[in-house]
Amino acid sequence: MPFSSTPIHALVMGASAGIGLALARRLAAMPDVASLTLCARRIRASADIAALVAAASPAALHLHDADITDEESLNRLAAEVRQRTPSLHLVINTVGLLHDDALAPEKTLSQLTMHGMLRSFAVNACGPVLLAKALMPLLRQSDPAIFASLSARVGSIGDNRLGGWYSYRAAKAAQNQMLRTLSVELRRINANSIVLALHPGTTDTGLSKPFQGNVPEGKLFTPDFAAERLLEVIAVRSPADSGGFFAWDGQPIPW
Ligand SMILES: NC(=O)c1ccc[n+]([C@@H]2O[C@H](COP(=O)([O-])OP(=O)(O)OC[C@H]3O[C@@H](n4cnc5c(N)ncnc54)[C@H](OP(=O)(O)O)[C@@H]3O)[C@@H](O)[C@H]2O)c1
Repeated sequence: MPFSSTPIHALVMGASAGIGLALARRLAAMPDVASLTLCARRIRASADIAALVAAASPAALHLHDADITDEESLNRLAAEVRQRTPSLHLVINTVGLLHDDALAPEKTLSQLTMHGMLRSFAVNACGPVLLAKALMPLLRQSDPAIFASLSARVGSIGDNRLGGWYSYRAAKAAQNQMLRTLSVELRRINANSIVLALHPGTTDTGLSKPFQGNVPEGKLFTPDFAAERLLEVIAVRSPADSGGFFAWDGQPIPW
């Protein structure tokens, strides 16, 4: 991590499954990470999180239920973290919504609905900056503070050749703009801040499961591989990179 001082206080939002869980496991094993706050809507319902807690030092891990679309819930999270530490050095948001029981990515315009678009925007575009807003007091410091949020390459407007997935693409593009705007504001408050939009690569999780059929052989990452690469990408970024959109291999992605 590009930090001048240790210990590091970190938070992962969306830590109960998928890439967020893999990031949580890696961060929990890092000696420099003094405290790690892990959040999801029902973080304690995850058997994987229970196993992680059982294996880790109890003082270091903090579990918190929070919904990224609920400002009250995010404010409660921020207040709880502030009781333990005045600052966070690393925040990673992995929450994203592509499909669920009531939502599927659109193949054609005819499948677009107001309800689906609003749900996707609530989670994928509004959630990350609402999280940043709640945690802002913890990022106002002169220490390095990284706010990284998982976007997706399909959110790149310049890279859109296939079409489809209207809501998810547009919501991730909107997230990118939100993060870019956040980077400008945060830089004025903390010159050592780094705000990043990151693409993890196609990764074997519940989010990608129904869409893995067309993934070429060897191109589907494990969550642990994606987490390892994302932490490497974060580790080599500097404040000059703040507001950028980077892939798992460190390459910038066009807006
Ligand atoms: N997997 C891929 O191939 C891929 C590719 C490109 C980009 N991405 C992006 O990478 C990120 C991580 O994806 P993933 O595949 O790891 O997803 P995932 O397996 O679906 O995990 C999502 C995590 O977010 C939590 N979550 C969902 N809704 C939430 C909410 N409203 N508030 C708080 N937590 C919530 C979930 O836990 P609860 O349900 O318990 O709350 C879970 O821990 C997403 O932003 C996704 O768009 C993924």
